[in-house]
Amino acid sequence: MTNDDVLTALDQLPEAERIRSRKLTGNVATIVADASGLGAEERQSLEAKLKAAALAVPGVTEARVAMTAAKPHRTLIAIGSGKGGVGKSTLTANLAVALARMGKRVGIVDADIYGPSQPTLFGTSEKPQAVKEKLIPVEVQGIRLLSVGQLVSADTALAWRGPMASSALNQLVEGDWGDAELILVDLPPGTGDVQLSLVQKARPAGAVIVSTPQDLSLIDATRAIDLFGKTSVPVLGLIENMAGYQCPHCGEASDPFGQGGAEASAARLGVPFLGRLPLSTSLREASDAGRPPAAGEGPAAEAFSAIAIKLLAELEKVSA
Ligand SMILES: Nc1ncnc2c1ncn2[C@@H]1O[C@H](COP(=O)(O)OP(=O)(O)OP(=O)(O)O)[C@@H](O)[C@H]1O
Ligand SMILES: [Mg+2]
Repeated sequence: MTNDDVLTALDQLPEAERIRSRKLTGNVATIVADASGLGAEERQSLEAKLKAAALAVPGVTEARVAMTAAKPHRTLIAIGSGKGGVGKSTLTANLAVALARMGKRVGIVDADIYGPSQPTLFGTSEKPQAVKEKLIPVEVQGIRLLSVGQLVSADTALAWRGPMASSALNQLVEGDWGDAELILVDLPPGTGDVQLSLVQKARPAGAVIVSTPQDLSLIDATRAIDLFGKTSVPVLGLIENMAGYQCPHCGEASDPFGQGGAEASAARLGVPFLGRLPLSTSLREASDAGRPPAAGEGPAAEAFSAIAIKLLAELEKVSA
């Protein structure tokens, strides 16, 4: 038995390209393999196969397998707002779908302990499984999803205080996201301590602020920007939601609040403007029915895709 015997045996495996190094010392084979992008189960199975293949070589009595890059690099983006009910969750769901349509592998952490909405927005009541104490996100409409709403009833979550809330969020963020590249974190409304500690725990690469035209008074938007400033999270941009009104009959958009205010406010606040979405009955109906309009065709899908493209461009700038 030589080093070459171990080499040949392992090279015949379909997983051979994951092997980074192999060595034989006496009767002990040591193998280092790259587990980047693999889920917990796949990682375990790769480890078992390598071990078995090494032990099958005559004379090898012990096989040690080390897995590297077990924690793949992934980018978290927090979606927050100064006020509640401005459409954070709706935009998070649709942006996730738009990003997935662009070929990104996307996950959502629904961190809204007080009113989780992602399961409804995606029309799923599936519960995540846990493997080795890690939650496996539910796969729905091409998106991986973990939500407090999948774990406990709304009443239970409502009773949580700071530390419990943040440990629950930690479990979601530390779930087994497999090869997901981008994870959008749908935050609870507001800018209090709960949000602050959630952001500190999740350590997002950037944040998106959602605002309605009415909410665009400097005070609310500034509060949201401050929340991320306190934790040194760069603000990737502002999305104006419920801007103008789209007539459900003729589809024509009107602007009771005027146009261009959000862009001006974003400029004044020194953050990029990512785009706007009108107040639209069809958007609300589709959302209530668990069908994110970004998955279909039409103006809403186009708007979400345009926002997703801008978001990626801003993300590139801060990670450069
Ligand atoms: N552009 C829009 N046109 C019509 N309805 C919308 C639009 N955006 C969001 N809504 C509706 O407004 C309501 C609030 O939206 P959503 O739950 O996404 O807001 P939120 O900011 O996440 O709220 P919360 O602060 O409670 O988490 C939902 O019923 C949603 O369907
Ligand atoms: Mg919400």
